[in-house]
Amino acid sequence: SLEPRIAYIRDTVTSIQDYPKPGIIFRDITSTLADAKALHLILDLLTERYQDKGLTQIAGIEARGFIFAAALADRLNCGVTLVRKQGKLPRAVHSQAYSLEYGNDTLELHKDALSSTDKVLLVDDLLATGGTMCAAAELVQRTQAEVIEAAFLIELTGLPGRQRIEQSGVPCYAICAYD
Ligand code: PRP
Ligand code: ADE
Repeated sequence: SLEPRIAYIRDTVTSIQDYPKPGIIFRDITSTLADAKALHLILDLLTERYQDKGLTQIAGIEARGFIFAAALADRLNCGVTLVRKQGKLPRAVHSQAYSLEYGNDTLELHKDALSSTDKVLLVDDLLATGGTMCAAAELVQRTQAEVIEAAFLIELTGLPGRQRIEQSGVPCYAICAYD
């Protein structure tokens, strides 16, 4: 069964009150990343879920999504695609503005990073309002690639992030949840 592994992973996350703004409980994954067993279990769970899906690219969202995207891509024999904050990619990009739990930003993707033959898993560390992931999914879809799912380490179930992503037609998976 999956539960002991999920419980182990969840217990490694550190919660910080009122960061970066009053009223936000920040779910800090640096303690999870530093735990070799937790990191291994996360990748085991994601590999088991996605190994037979025919994925070609794992798209990681800057910055913490990159960590999981790179490690998972290696396990699944996929490439890594970078969805980056504005101004970081050097060639022609698609751009998408978005709002997140505590601010606004713009994400970008190289126009030639993906094509209609790609089957893409989008990966990020945490789902809050879903603004970041919806923007990333739009960017991938603008290349004509197929978005297979959006995967997260953590889902904040007190915010309507999952509904927002699923309403846009993208399936959603998170390893563990917080209210
Ligand atoms: C955090 C997190 C997600 C996003 C989730 O990233 O890593 O990408 O917020 O929020 P949302 O669901 O409300 O959009 P942040 O923008 O803080 O950037 P970082 O990973 O570069 O620190
Ligand atoms: N990104 C958006 N909301 C967050 C939270 N509460 N903790 C960590 N990262 C976040």
